[in-house]
This record gives sequence, structure tokens and C-alpha cells, in this order.
Amino acid sequence: MTTCITICDTCKRAGREEGDMARTDGEALAGLVEAAAAGTGLATRRVSCLMGCKRACNVAVQAPGKLAYVLGGFAPTREAAEAVVAYAAAHAESASGQVPFRAWPEAVKGHFVARLPPLEGES
Ligand code: FES
Repeated sequence: MTTCITICDTCKRAGREEGDMARTDGEALAGLVEAAAAGTGLATRRVSCLMGCKRACNVAVQAPGKLAYVLGGFAPTREAAEAVVAYAAAHAESASGQVPFRAWPEAVKGHFVARLPPLEGES
């Protein structure tokens, strides 16, 4: 099953007014994640608000029948985007969705917000 990275494209980080006002931080991160995920087999999608606004920027990593994860507190940087994609690739390789801590990209550590079990009968 394809692992999908859902990126909130309306996230705005504190201090945003001192940076690029042409787009939100979430839009910036979404573009970087989409670029990093291109050709990997991972799916991406944008949504407006994952209800984690105070810890922007937020993403979710999920696949049918697997544990799903919400991560937040990312800056819209290439390093963060590449780490999210690397983590999602490991999630895709895992039968349960659980990725051993030793395999976590450094830049996702400290960013986990929630882990959701798959729904019964989901596959
Ligand atoms: S605006 Fe991104 S989580 Fe609400």
C-alpha cells in the first residue's frame, strides 16, 4: 500500500512576517516535500489545516492498515522536507508502519505529535 505524506499548506510559523509573505510556511514546506518525494513512489497531498496550528509546520504519514503518524514543528527547509520523505519511505517499507528509532532521520526526531493505530478491518 502506498504511503502518503499529507502536508498542511496553511501553516504559518511564528515570526513569519519577517520572511516570505508571498506564501505560507506550509506552502513552502509542501513544495519542498513534493520535490523530495518525486520519483520515490510515495504519494503526497496538501490539506488546509491539520489542527496543529500552534506547532506549525505539520505533516502526517499514513497508509491503509498501518500506524499513522502526525509530526509538527518543522521549518520549511529542504533538510526538513528530505527527512520527512526519508521517514515516509521507511514507513512504506515497514509492514506495520512502525519505523525503528535507529532508522529515523535525525531531522524528524523531536517532531512526533501523535501515533494513530489503523482502523479495524483497514488494509
Ligand atoms: S494551519 Fe497548519 S495545522 Fe492548522
